[in-house]
Amino acid sequence: MPNLPDHLLRRFTPETRIAFFTGAGISAESGIPTFRDKDGYWSKYDPMRLASVQGFEADPELVWNWYLYRREKIMSVKPNPGHASITKFQKLFPDSCVITQNVDGLHKQAGNQNIYELHGNIFITRCLECRQEMDVPMIFDPAKEGIPRCDCGGLARPGVVWFGESLPVQTLSDAMTQVQQVDVLFTIGSSTAVYPAAQIPFDARNNGAVVIEINPDQTPFTSHADLAMHAPSGVVLPQLFEELYAALA
Ligand code: APR
Repeated sequence: MPNLPDHLLRRFTPETRIAFFTGAGISAESGIPTFRDKDGYWSKYDPMRLASVQGFEADPELVWNWYLYRREKIMSVKPNPGHASITKFQKLFPDSCVITQNVDGLHKQAGNQNIYELHGNIFITRCLECRQEMDVPMIFDPAKEGIPRCDCGGLARPGVVWFGESLPVQTLSDAMTQVQQVDVLFTIGSSTAVYPAAQIPFDARNNGAVVIEINPDQTPFTSHADLAMHAPSGVVLPQLFEELYAALA
């Protein structure tokens, strides 16, 4: 699909600063369900029961079983050509970063650099009370072994950002600083539905960056994009890389 229009192609030089802003859609082709697609997690489960402090306090075993299921699912898949392309892009455009809403760690696994995980990481375990990271088994059976407790007495919880919680302050601040400076931002596989992360493509646009959206569906950002590519990222990103590689050769 690519074939970037000339006026956009001309914006790319080896010095171009690029941010790859990603959501669950970039991991869809790895076999990880998204949240808001018709067969996504939130079409089957209540986010407030599974992804909020209140839901965890009401039934910590239920929440842990869901996150342990997701950990095992993610451990069984691998990055897809979309993730892999970003590693190639970052060799061609060294001044670049990844700002992701995803907690699956697939960007790191694919060799992407300068990654900002706005919503945490599903493989990190923290204390619900003191927030300290805990060194506990990645997989355990809450029914048989109970839920690990921190030295402070707090329950272990997944190290992800839940609804109603604030994002990691330094990570968000660093990511926003990048967004002020980039020349191009790709918004990839995000429904642009959950703030403050969803503000990122709008901020990039307002700061004069070229913003290209890669998403099979329309989003609230689509009409603001310089270019919207309505196709899967695992197909578009490899083609886009080849096109830019040839243009810069
Ligand atoms: N390539 C690109 N985009 C895709 C693909 C694909 N192969 N498949 C689906 N998409 C798009 C969908 O069209 C949708 O717009 O990915 C987007 C996924 O949207 P969501 O499921 O809402 O995921 P995301 O935007 O990451 O959600 C943001 O919400 O529930 C919270 O914390 C959770 O980080 C998550 C946040």
